[in-house]
Amino acid sequence: MRKRIVAGNWKMNMNYKEANNLFEALSKIKISNSTNVIIAPPSIYLSSFKNNNDKIFLSSQNVSNHNNGAYTGEISAEMLSSLDINYCIVGHSERRSYYSENDKLISKKIDALLNYDISPIYCCGELKLDRESQNHQQVVKSQIEEALFHLSKSQIKSVIIAYEPVWAIGTGLTASSEDAQNMHFFIRSLISEKYDSETAQSISILYGGSCKPNNAKELFSQPDIDGGLIGGAALNHKDFSDIIFSF
Ligand code: PGA
Repeated sequence: MRKRIVAGNWKMNMNYKEANNLFEALSKIKISNSTNVIIAPPSIYLSSFKNNNDKIFLSSQNVSNHNNGAYTGEISAEMLSSLDINYCIVGHSERRSYYSENDKLISKKIDALLNYDISPIYCCGELKLDRESQNHQQVVKSQIEEALFHLSKSQIKSVIIAYEPVWAIGTGLTASSEDAQNMHFFIRSLISEKYDSETAQSISILYGGSCKPNNAKELFSQPDIDGGLIGGAALNHKDFSDIIFSF
């Protein structure tokens, strides 16, 4: 059975005290055996959080595509690995639009992470225009092919995919559970065609984009939705725990 995953992307929010208080409060939650929780705080906090909950894992929000060297301000996969960080978000729409990251660069970041056994959480998703012009599947197909399809079967099994329609991120608009399920099924079918059905069935595909306590249950009950990547609601202890308990 695929892991159910709730991942919280804190983005560039909270000072250290606020972040540490929230992390400590979340560490006390009793999380069911079939669920993993992943927290992606600002990377400056990663080394100081004391994690004593074996259902909670830490993630970086970004990584360099380079191994090491003169890249001021960057963080390498080796550095994350040396802090026992197991996950890293890549391809988030904010990185794509504000920092001009494209799938070619993102695929290099994915390679860098996999070299150090860090699971990439690969974000993909269409713009509003793409959905309006019925081009959403084509856009996501090309994102998946360009960033992931150079990987071997065993490598792609370490990847978590997050389908995040860009028009739903931070807007309060959510994809209907039917539209989200259709896209998740489509992504799984692409993987099945390229690799095989066993590989496709083993990969967790999360939904992201205004996932909240009031819609998580319906989204997570869809057969191909294995959890969520949560932004705004991950900053609030009650909202995030309610989402963790939405399976
Ligand atoms: P949101 O963000 O839940 O605030 O829409 C999701 C994300 O950016 O991953």
